[in-house]
Amino acid sequence: MTDLTAYIAGLPKAELHLHIEGSLEPELMFELAQRNGVSIPFDSVEAVRAAYDFSNLQDFLDIYYAGANVLLTRQDFEDLAFAYFQRAAADNVRHAEIFFDPQTHTDRGVAFGVVVEGLIAGMDRAKTELGVTSGLILSFLRHLTEEEAFATLEMAKPYLHHFIGVGLDSSEVGHPPSKFVRVFAAARELGLKLCAHAGEEGPPAYVHEALDLLHIDRMDHGNRSMEDESLIQRLSAEQMTLTVCPLSNLKLCVVKDLKDHPVPEMLRRGLHVTLNSDDPAYFGGYVNANYIRLAEAVGLSKEQVTEMAKNSFEGSFLPDAQKLKYMAEVDAYAA
Ligand code: HPA
Ligand code: ZN
Repeated sequence: MTDLTAYIAGLPKAELHLHIEGSLEPELMFELAQRNGVSIPFDSVEAVRAAYDFSNLQDFLDIYYAGANVLLTRQDFEDLAFAYFQRAAADNVRHAEIFFDPQTHTDRGVAFGVVVEGLIAGMDRAKTELGVTSGLILSFLRHLTEEEAFATLEMAKPYLHHFIGVGLDSSEVGHPPSKFVRVFAAARELGLKLCAHAGEEGPPAYVHEALDLLHIDRMDHGNRSMEDESLIQRLSAEQMTLTVCPLSNLKLCVVKDLKDHPVPEMLRRGLHVTLNSDDPAYFGGYVNANYIRLAEAVGLSKEQVTEMAKNSFEGSFLPDAQKLKYMAEVDAYAA
């Protein structure tokens, strides 16, 4: 282990971009398929992993939605969440703000409450058994209509106190932020924070829309902002937190090689970058692997790694006092 690898391993950090359905490891997928009598189109764990060879976002999404079919009961969602938190705790993640896609489950006949109660049970166990705090972000599927997003927000109302925010994910190109202006405004009225995936595959114009029309509090990915000088300056001036996901970008061919990853340029231009795992079971690594593989590929310094860990707490939706406490822990560790 290099010095920097060991340093990253012990660094306190938050994870701000994690789809809980994307943390479903093939082993648990098989276990749940058996437990629930659901058939999956694979013979073995190895065959599942071999299928994870994607050439773009849609390739991945097709397999990711199919994988989620094994999730049926409250216990399944609790097991899924707790398995993620065990991995996160091993990476010194102290706080995680996790996305879930309710429509992926309600459209299969799984009740909204089953999903939420299961995830919350896993999050509660993470706090008591592992000391990892967390928040839940309800993500709308952008390939569906705004009307369907509104129906989902309606289902969420009895559970509102469980959510910290809403997000926007799934197939980006052809589904711009402008499609969801009204439902984001309604979520804001309910007191929720707003996130959106933007500029992963979509053009810089979608990033402008996420800022100007959705009024997001945090941007997921944001890579293609680097094609637009005015966006770079704006994101820097506003200190917009970007939840960047290097191994996801590699697996989904957003970058050809990790050596070409925009993080060093983002940091140089003063952007508020954080590193995250996105869908770790599908992309080949949890949060520490994202830090370590990127650091190896582009030659990050200890100072840059520390800055991003601090950004992860600062960019979280925690109360200010808690942010400051965690940021002081990062400083103490760095010293
Ligand atoms: N992009 C868009 N939608 C997603 C992703 C992603 O990386 N992961 C899960 N849903
Ligand atoms: Zn994502």
